Order: sequence, then structure tokens, then C-alpha cells
Amino acid sequence: MPVLDSIAARLDEMIAWRRHLHAHPELAFEEVATAGFVADRLAAFGIEVHRGLAGTGVVGVLRHGNSPRSVGLRADMDALAMTERNGFAHASRHPGKMHGCGHDGHTAMLLGAARHLAETRNFDGTVHLIFQPAEEGAGGAKVMIDQGLFDRFPCDTVFGMHNWPQLPPGTFGVRAGPVMAAADHFEITVTGKGGHGAMPQLGIDPVLVAAHIVTAAQSLVSRGTDPVDAAVVSVTMIQGGSAFNVIPDTVTLSGTVRSFRPETQDRLQHGLARIAERVAAAFGATAETAYRRNYPATLNSRTEAAVAASVAAQVVGAQNVHRDLEPSMAAEDFAFMLEQRPGCYVWLGQGGGAASCMLHNPHYDFQDQILPVGASYWVLLAETALPRGT
Ligand code: NI
Repeated sequence: MPVLDSIAARLDEMIAWRRHLHAHPELAFEEVATAGFVADRLAAFGIEVHRGLAGTGVVGVLRHGNSPRSVGLRADMDALAMTERNGFAHASRHPGKMHGCGHDGHTAMLLGAARHLAETRNFDGTVHLIFQPAEEGAGGAKVMIDQGLFDRFPCDTVFGMHNWPQLPPGTFGVRAGPVMAAADHFEITVTGKGGHGAMPQLGIDPVLVAAHIVTAAQSLVSRGTDPVDAAVVSVTMIQGGSAFNVIPDTVTLSGTVRSFRPETQDRLQHGLARIAERVAAAFGATAETAYRRNYPATLNSRTEAAVAASVAAQVVGAQNVHRDLEPSMAAEDFAFMLEQRPGCYVWLGQGGGAASCMLHNPHYDFQDQILPVGASYWVLLAETALPRGT
């Protein structure tokens, strides 16, 4: 792969970082050792280090020249609450915690790029190296922003990257507009009237009501959403009852709603509550819906997506930059940063053979061979965003 020679030459060290992080995973907002590892290396590269945003967040500031321009490059550091089922030497040493999404690789790639940028300083402006905690569901990006990330470290543009097992190594996926969906969480409490399982006429069965709500909720996408828009309503948990012969008083339904467009998100949120309430009322029961918007949709700005694609093409060749990938209905908290600043989130191919194992799978492992690809992309992106002599 045509990556930067000086980065390829020190691949062994990047692999060592990546495997160390993989063996010592830490969960959201608990990335104490990981943050220390990152901060120590940044400091050793001669980069100004700021710690404490969102607790375990680390920001490296690298200035060169006189330009007021700035760019933010972001990596996530947290692991997943799952047990690894790989047997290799760098497998997780912490049961119940695993780098099952490759954030170990993301951290190592940005560190590799940071060292190169600090050594070569072939740019004019300020690079902010953002190592964020808690991407996996806890919204570490939002916490960093709420605590002043972009006030303390102004960024004209921000960029993020995630490894992607569905793409082969040596490729990128880049697109303008939506790339990941908004992810919401709901919980519907259906209240009826419990009683003897043999005498349903004396109560109001919330199990039956819940079943009707599950079915009716599927009309929100199939009948209520523009067929060329994309959305998901998944009821993933049904909880109620304690005995085979007792009708319970309540049943709870929970699940997730995914969407790209704000108007679709609004309609699904209100439609779900309306269906739950009115279906329940039709049976003489009640339903209350608690709805929480978790991550917004990840929306790449057009100009920055074009910049990202052209930089990716410099690393892997234009034929290996996929501009036509469909968005994913998964979610990503880099979306919060893209709400604040123009920027682009790209997918870095890491699949092929056993490496096609999907993210969040207990057999997943980040592929070391793509470390220099991602690190080279970061370096060239910073140099492109902050050109010298202009
Ligand atoms: Ni991830």
C-alpha cells in the first residue's frame, strides 16, 4: 500500500501500541490507563497535552507557523463490555471488557500520525489531536463539547475515522451527507389489570395489548415513512409476567428507533407514543412512552467529504475510495462534533477473510496491517487542511 515511508518504517512500534491497548481495554469514562498511555506518548513527541475534558479525554495541541487555521482529528479510546473469545497473545486481560470495535487501532493510528506531524511539521496552523472517551453509547464526544472542547481548542473543521470490516484493507469509504443514523431509545410501559390466567374477563391483559403495540408500531416505517427515506423501529425487549397462570399488571417494551432526517425522527417519536397510547386505550389499558434521543445522525459536509476523499485517494489510489457506499443504520457519537463543525467521518477498510468479522463480535480484532494506512491519511489530511505557503 502506498503509505508514507516514515510511518511504514515504524509499523512495529504502532503494532506494539495497538496490541498493548487491546490487551488492556477500559470501558466508557474509565479510560484512565489508556489516557495516560496516550498523554505520555504525545508529551514524548513534544506535543502540548491537555487532560481532563470529559474526565479521561486527552487533547494534543500541535502548532506550527502563523496561520490561524486549525483542524481537529479525533480518535475514540473506549472498549466494549463484552468478553473476548480470541486466544492470541494480545487478547484482553480484563474479562468482560474487550476492544471489540477497534478503538485500540484508532488510538494507535492517531498517535502514529501525531508523532510524524510533530517531527516533520509540514503544515501551517494548529492540529488538535482529540482522543475521546466513551464513544460506545455514553456520548463522550458530547461531554467533551459540553465541557468546552471547541472553545478551548477551536477547530475550523473536524474529522473522524472508523475501521470497517465490510471493506477490504487498502480502501476507504467516504460520502457526503448522512453516513450513520440517529439512534434513539424508547421504553413503553403498558398497564392493564392483572389476575388469574384462567379468568381473563376479570382483568385487562397487558401482554395482549403489548403484542398489538409491537405489531402496530411496525406501520411507522412500512406505511408512515417515505420509502426512499430510511428508518428502523425495533422492539428488542418485552418484559412482563412472573408465572404461567397469572396475568401481570404491566408489561414493558423497549427498543431503538433509527433515522437520518430530523423530520422523520420527530414523526417516529410522536407516532410511537401515539400508537402505544391509543392501541392501549382501545383495550381499556394505558401506555406511557419514555423516549430518549441518544446520538444524532452523522452528517458529513460536502466540502470536507471531498477533501477527505481526495486525501484518501492519495494514500490508496482513487479506485480504492468508495464514494457510493450506503449509509449505516448504526450510530456514532462523532455526530455531535459534526453538529458543531463542518467535517467528515470516513470508513477505513479492514475486512477480508477472518478480518471480515463484524464489529462488536467476540472474535473481532483490529487488523495491524491497516495502521499505516490510517496514520498516513491523518498526516496528509492535516497537511491538506493546513497548507504551507498560502
Ligand atoms: Ni466503534
